[in-house]
Amino acid sequence: MKITAAITGVGAYVPDYVLTNQELEKMVDTTDEWITSRTGIKERRILKGEDQGASVLGIRAVQQLLDKTGTNPDDVDLLICATTTPDMLFPATANIISNGVGITRAFSYDLNAACSSFLFALATGAQFIQTGTYKKVVVVGADKMSSIVDYTDRANCIIFGDGAGAVLLEPNTEGYGLLDQVLRTEGSGESYLHQKAGGSRRPPTHETVDRREHYIYQEGATVFKFAVKSMADVAAQVMERNHLGNDDVAWLVPHQANKRIIDATANRMGVGPEKVMLNIQRYGNTTNGTIPLCLADYESQLRRGDNLVLAAFGGGFTWGSVYLKWAYDGAGKAAG
Ligand code: UT7
Repeated sequence: MKITAAITGVGAYVPDYVLTNQELEKMVDTTDEWITSRTGIKERRILKGEDQGASVLGIRAVQQLLDKTGTNPDDVDLLICATTTPDMLFPATANIISNGVGITRAFSYDLNAACSSFLFALATGAQFIQTGTYKKVVVVGADKMSSIVDYTDRANCIIFGDGAGAVLLEPNTEGYGLLDQVLRTEGSGESYLHQKAGGSRRPPTHETVDRREHYIYQEGATVFKFAVKSMADVAAQVMERNHLGNDDVAWLVPHQANKRIIDATANRMGVGPEKVMLNIQRYGNTTNGTIPLCLADYESQLRRGDNLVLAAFGGGFTWGSVYLKWAYDGAGKAAG
């Protein structure tokens, strides 16, 4: 009997501090009107305080997931943390999260594919379930983007926010769960979206700090064009090869980078706005938090058997789309 990896629960967490467009108007030369019309974002959450890393967000999201699903931490086999802003270069943030929630009988590791990490981690975690190797895999997306955002760079500081979301993957033999995926990278995209310093190529020095090289560097318009085309391409490809017409798709679950990219993807799929999960207006781009935060916000509306098409795009370039059949009638609560 074929085993598929079904999502059997969702947890989420966003920090309390709300950074509004109005506050950003006081920090850089921008307007609420520009931000709203160019990105769809009204506010985002920021994790404040000393020594607070992405793990703080991840721990809250995974704890909620364990509580909601009644999962004993001892029964978890594997935890994968999708993150671009790990607490430290090493050890893995996944280990810190596991320790924080009492998962001690598993192994854990981080996966970094920029904004596509959550999707790639979901596909990776699913393999361990599909092969029958493991029974409970936690995939958590957690990013503290405010730690690498330059709040003097008006094109970038308006986009990002902090947040985390987590899902539990368990075996299913009734055809629910992850059914297909198209995952891609294009390494030449490196030059358009990256963080110059802090890694092994350019370790931190006073000069790298003075040159502001520890922040996100993004050529927005180039990234935008590539994102619009590639996210729509893979989402359409996943529909086509699974013979899904637009009526068959219950929800598009897109990475929340820019509302205009989301609209373009939905248009290409022929899916109306009522079927598109959207929370960019409240959280901005939380990188690997976006997709699980959407699942958490919309969980109560999801029904067993719903066809979901997930799609993401990120630095690298990385992008992909996952087709999954939702496994339960949702009754969860929204994050925040
Ligand atoms: O999640 C990972 C992948 N990342 C993405 O998917 C992000 C993709 N890119 C974007 O979403 C958009 O490119 C941005 C939102 C980052 C920027 O929007 P844009 O429409 O592409 O703006 P632009 O960079 O082409 O700049 C257009 C103009 C420029 O002014 P001039 O040179 O035409 O006079 C910018 O200086 O808009 C200006 N501008 C702003 N004006 C007011 C840029 N940022 C702002 C701002 N407020 N915050």
